[in-house]
Amino acid sequence: MEALLTFQAHPFIFPITTKPSLTPISSFPSNSTHQGTPTIAIASSTRGGGRRRSELLKVSPTSETIVTSSSIPSKMKAWVYEEYGDSQVLKFEDEIEVPEVKDDQVLIKVFAAALNPVDFKRRQGKFKATDSPLPTVPGYDVAGVVVKVGSQVKSLKEGDEVYGDVNEKALENPKQFGSLAEYTAVEEKLLAVKPKNLNFAEAAALPLAIETANEGLEKAGFSAGKSILVLGGAGGVGSLVIQLAKQVFGASRVAATSSTGKLELLKSLGADLAIDYTKENFEDLPEKFDVVYDTVGQCDKAVKAVKEGGSVVVLTGAVTPPGFRFVVTSDGAALAKLNPFLESGKVRPILDPKGPFPFSQLVQAFSYLETGRAVGKVVIYPIP
Ligand SMILES: NC(=O)c1ccc[n+]([C@@H]2O[C@H](COP(=O)([O-])OP(=O)(O)OC[C@H]3O[C@@H](n4cnc5c(N)ncnc54)[C@H](OP(=O)(O)O)[C@@H]3O)[C@@H](O)[C@H]2O)c1
Repeated sequence: MEALLTFQAHPFIFPITTKPSLTPISSFPSNSTHQGTPTIAIASSTRGGGRRRSELLKVSPTSETIVTSSSIPSKMKAWVYEEYGDSQVLKFEDEIEVPEVKDDQVLIKVFAAALNPVDFKRRQGKFKATDSPLPTVPGYDVAGVVVKVGSQVKSLKEGDEVYGDVNEKALENPKQFGSLAEYTAVEEKLLAVKPKNLNFAEAAALPLAIETANEGLEKAGFSAGKSILVLGGAGGVGSLVIQLAKQVFGASRVAATSSTGKLELLKSLGADLAIDYTKENFEDLPEKFDVVYDTVGQCDKAVKAVKEGGSVVVLTGAVTPPGFRFVVTSDGAALAKLNPFLESGKVRPILDPKGPFPFSQLVQAFSYLETGRAVGKVVIYPIP
């Protein structure tokens, strides 16, 4: 009999941790639809959303249940595209070569992955000039178990549960064999040990987005006592910028924008002011901020909301001074720095409630992400 966890969750949170006491949903505002604390249920119930959800709630596999280096197959299942285009170019294959491990890499048995806008922009051919050659197995975010280590690997070993963004530079020669596969080979320096309280699906929801949030705040010189406005507070990156600004960097005040239905989520993440962009123009408000973090592509307006001498972090779209744009660098050390905040529950992954999508539904998952309406992260789990 398998122990399952069931939760009465906030509609935007899908807490699937194996340690309910660490699931920080008790901090939800009383006027949210969250109904109470997590409870443990036993057996193969389909309560709470049917088979997929039930499967998801299974306690995370451990290294004992998976392949060891002696049983790594030569071929694997993976999603592949051979030409640039819309999500229909994605093909499911079951005879893809398992990647070779370089000296500084480990081979990961992938349990969960997450999608990022860069995945579909890359697939559309927007970064053709600096992309690796086709065919491509997409996927940046991974959570899984180390099954083989390269000769120069120092701190990871077989059986370690890890997570990370497999591409050091998001746009410069990203890997031909990414995380949307049964196995992926990743440099040790891009990985961190998975936070103990998070299962694989939750851990996969973090790397690229949390590293982007962290790097942008660092580059903006954000520090304790400063104020910040986050544009796109409900998205994959924005939901983590709010939390890191407040919990890690010590923001004095956090404001964030979203559409009407997501305002409560922004507050539950730590926003002191949740601005409904369908009703108010943030740039017209009298309040100005030390930093504006733009995840939407509204730099022309963002610069009107920053204090003189402040910074405007721009992730996408045209840049207006004093805005600056950067492209995230994957960094396992940054994840390791943030692990205590994740393990204490101060910072938590936000998983879109429409997911996690099973591996077979990758095309649907991409189509959903590409609507631009996702809440937090679109996660792919389980991966066979
Ligand atoms: N430069 C880099 O290194 C880097 C790194 C990561 C991401 N990015 C880029 O940053 C952007 C955001 O990434 P992401 O992963 O956070 O995307 P995402 O998760 O797909 O963002 C979706 C969210 O955006 C919100 N949104 C859309 N229009 C909005 C608006 N006008 N005002 C406020 N919120 C709005 C939506 O909320 P509503 O439904 O409420 O509108 C939705 O919840 C993408 O373009 C991505 O490519 C760049």
